[in-house]
Amino acid sequence: MFARFRARYLDLLGSIYIYNEHRGYASIDRVLEAVRTRWPEDKALIAAIEKHRADERKHYVMFRRWFERQGKMPLMVDRTCGHIDRFVEIMFGRRIDELDTDVVASDDALFARLCRVISLTERRGYRQVEILLNHPLVRSDRRLIKIFRVIEQDEPSHWAPYDGWLKTYGGREPLWWERAVDSFIHAELLFLKLPILFLNPWLKRRDEWADAHEPAEALASPISAAA
Ligand SMILES: [Fe+2]
Ligand SMILES: [Fe+2]
Repeated sequence: MFARFRARYLDLLGSIYIYNEHRGYASIDRVLEAVRTRWPEDKALIAAIEKHRADERKHYVMFRRWFERQGKMPLMVDRTCGHIDRFVEIMFGRRIDELDTDVVASDDALFARLCRVISLTERRGYRQVEILLNHPLVRSDRRLIKIFRVIEQDEPSHWAPYDGWLKTYGGREPLWWERAVDSFIHAELLFLKLPILFLNPWLKRRDEWADAHEPAEALASPISAAA
């Protein structure tokens, strides 16, 4: 009984993570494109976002290997379990896929808003990983712990470029209500969506990997020793 509970929990946790990692690097690709067009001279900013993108891709690959080793595909979780998806939907009133990043980058106020959303999401990710590293169910899976350790190392450099942009270009820091939105999204996932998915016996597995149709250059990633 406990073994089944544990397996289901880790299965779902891994599925939510791999969804978010993929969403992360795919969305950063669009941010990068817009930043390269708007601030081509800011090489440090571009390099920092490129590093962020490479890390998120690396995280995705680590979770993919974790599933492959178990001989199974991730569970089918969608954008309702994506922290950044929900955050963008609430802050911009549209889905990530519908967000025109060129328009956002051409308006300082909108780009500042996006920077705050990404920064808060990354900080949330870091805090979550700290919790999971001490979680007894997670600790029972050696490979998963290895993955979360890599994420823990990478995460602090992820909010830096966006905080840096806010400082350099005069954007304000997140206000209390933006932090409250972040907390709300997290609570919604933890206390509402996760239990529903956990108990849903009809929840299917993906039939293909999220990066199955991505061009070769998007798949390139420096992969570390983890997983
Ligand atoms: Fe990540
Ligand atoms: Fe990250």
